[in-house]
Amino acid sequence: MDRALGEEARQVLRAARGWLEELAEEGVTSFEIAAAKPAAKPPSSGAPETAQTGTTLEAVRAELGDCTRCGLAEGRTKLVFGDGNPNADLMFVGEGPGEQEDLSGLPFVGRAGELLTRMIERGIALPRSEVYICNIVKCRPPGNRTPLATEVSTCRHFLDGQIEAVQPKVIVTLGKPASSLLLGRDIAITRVRGTWHEYKGIPVMPTFHPAFILRQYTEQNRRLVWEDLKAAAARAQQ
Ligand code: URA
Repeated sequence: MDRALGEEARQVLRAARGWLEELAEEGVTSFEIAAAKPAAKPPSSGAPETAQTGTTLEAVRAELGDCTRCGLAEGRTKLVFGDGNPNADLMFVGEGPGEQEDLSGLPFVGRAGELLTRMIERGIALPRSEVYICNIVKCRPPGNRTPLATEVSTCRHFLDGQIEAVQPKVIVTLGKPASSLLLGRDIAITRVRGTWHEYKGIPVMPTFHPAFILRQYTEQNRRLVWEDLKAAAARAQQ
């Protein structure tokens, strides 16, 4: 092998190793080789992308009702819709309710929620009641597992309705599932956190999920989230 080719191969291997290490940090232990999916079809009716323009949180909640659209309904105690200022500039989207949220009916009130509240109130000096907080799915997945694709797609309409109703200036996605959903692709959170994206014209800042920070409570991770939240808050104030 000539020298230049050998060096290029080593660079590719180093990059691949770095990428695999990032995935391992996020808990990925295996891969499935999937056939490429065709691109999503654009809406065929010519209807606006946000079919719920002019909607309110009350209307979205009323449409959700006593939802039994997916299997998560069977295990839930309370449906967890959302919490906070209906006119918030800053919106946080998590994954799905945990145990405390399922019992109380409010998002982010367990340990991860306490950390999120501290990050908002101390990190960016906003009362929690000033922002709006919700999740991708509104019912607790059993054992806090990641919501399944079918559960996410069933509930997505209601998250879209919440975004449409609140019309935040900035959305902060917490962790891989929420970030992947709004970025429209399977992302590695360590790669995309701290970088700006867009969802339906709204700036999106992905950051680490507070549950991840609790598991890896390092100064570096806390600083990164703080930087992401500061950037999000500054943009929301513009
Ligand atoms: N984790 C989430 O993603 N959402 C909650 O509401 C609580 C914990």
